Amino acid sequence: MNAKNIKRIAINTGGGDAPGLNAVIRAVVVSALRRGWECVGIRDGYNGLLMPELYPEGGLISLTRAKVRGITALGGTILGTTNSGNPLKYPTMGRGGKMYEKDRSAELIAAFKRNGIDALVALGGDGSLGIANALAQKGLRVIGVPKTIDNDLDRTVVTFGFDTAVSFATECVDRLHSTADAHRRIMVVEVMGRYAGWIAMNVGVSASADAILIPEIPYNIKKVASALKERWTHGKKYSIVVVAEGAMPVGGTVSVISKELGRAEKLGGAGERVTRDLAALTGKESRAVVLGHLLRGGSPTTFDRLLSLRFGAAAVRALAAGRSGVMVALDPPAVRYVPLKQATSRMKTVPLDCDTIVTARDLGISFGD
Ligand code: F6P
Repeated sequence: MNAKNIKRIAINTGGGDAPGLNAVIRAVVVSALRRGWECVGIRDGYNGLLMPELYPEGGLISLTRAKVRGITALGGTILGTTNSGNPLKYPTMGRGGKMYEKDRSAELIAAFKRNGIDALVALGGDGSLGIANALAQKGLRVIGVPKTIDNDLDRTVVTFGFDTAVSFATECVDRLHSTADAHRRIMVVEVMGRYAGWIAMNVGVSASADAILIPEIPYNIKKVASALKERWTHGKKYSIVVVAEGAMPVGGTVSVISKELGRAEKLGGAGERVTRDLAALTGKESRAVVLGHLLRGGSPTTFDRLLSLRFGAAAVRALAAGRSGVMVALDPPAVRYVPLKQATSRMKTVPLDCDTIVTARDLGISFGD
């Protein structure tokens, strides 16, 4: 389709929310309206189109200037989101009441057509942008915008939401130093990030942790314990350990809470495991703090707001230029476009030789290896 034929575009937000979603929505809407395009938002991922019966007020939200006024600094998403609405693997009740995963993509593409939607701007992480890529392959005009606090999307230096999560977690760990010191305790802080250690690494270095445990470096708990003890012999009587939820011991596995049909596995318990083991090995009182979903809440930092606004405006420029099947990406100082297929074909994990890891080692921070 020629860009000149675009009259109506849709925006959706999928997967876990991240600070900056509303800023992207506002930038897309304002830039699109200025080009004379109409904008609608799909409620809760694709559910507004796939399950319209759930929405008496309609599965699509008309996105006017008024609707997006003042939302740049707002956390969450005005469209709603879901972690269990993958149209390629939609959890569906089969005969005999047994649930199975159904491919509803053809139905979804028909719903886009029926609603006169010429293009989609999809805001999501690896899962949602993988879906966006599949829809683009099936002929839908799609631009992806990389969202996730985890920063694990490939081909962009950073995703929006990451800076806010890291800034907030750093503040939390800063606050733990004084109480850990007062009680001579080991404080173990678990942070989100799925199978990548970006959040834990950046928080741990910024907030002067004694040890950082990330999925990319399986840890030996005895080495963590002796690194902490070594510091105590130099006068420091407490310790801070930052643990990524996906961290695992050498030869062990990731701590999983549950795996449900049609959604990614839920991680949790890594911090508790490390706390228990360190208490046993050191004899020191050890406590776990799980920051969890707090990292997804609140207002985006200035960095994330600006990045989100830049990404949103760039997504509309991509559509106007006739592009599809690409993701906007930060390649400082520019925002560029990369094929969705490339951005979603592998997870971006922390390179073991990256400067932040090297810096951490220079500062004496243990990775338990
Ligand atoms: O991908 C973002 C993220 O916050 C991960 O860090 C975390 O593992 C997951 O989402 C939690 O998702 P849920 O909303 O299902 O608890």
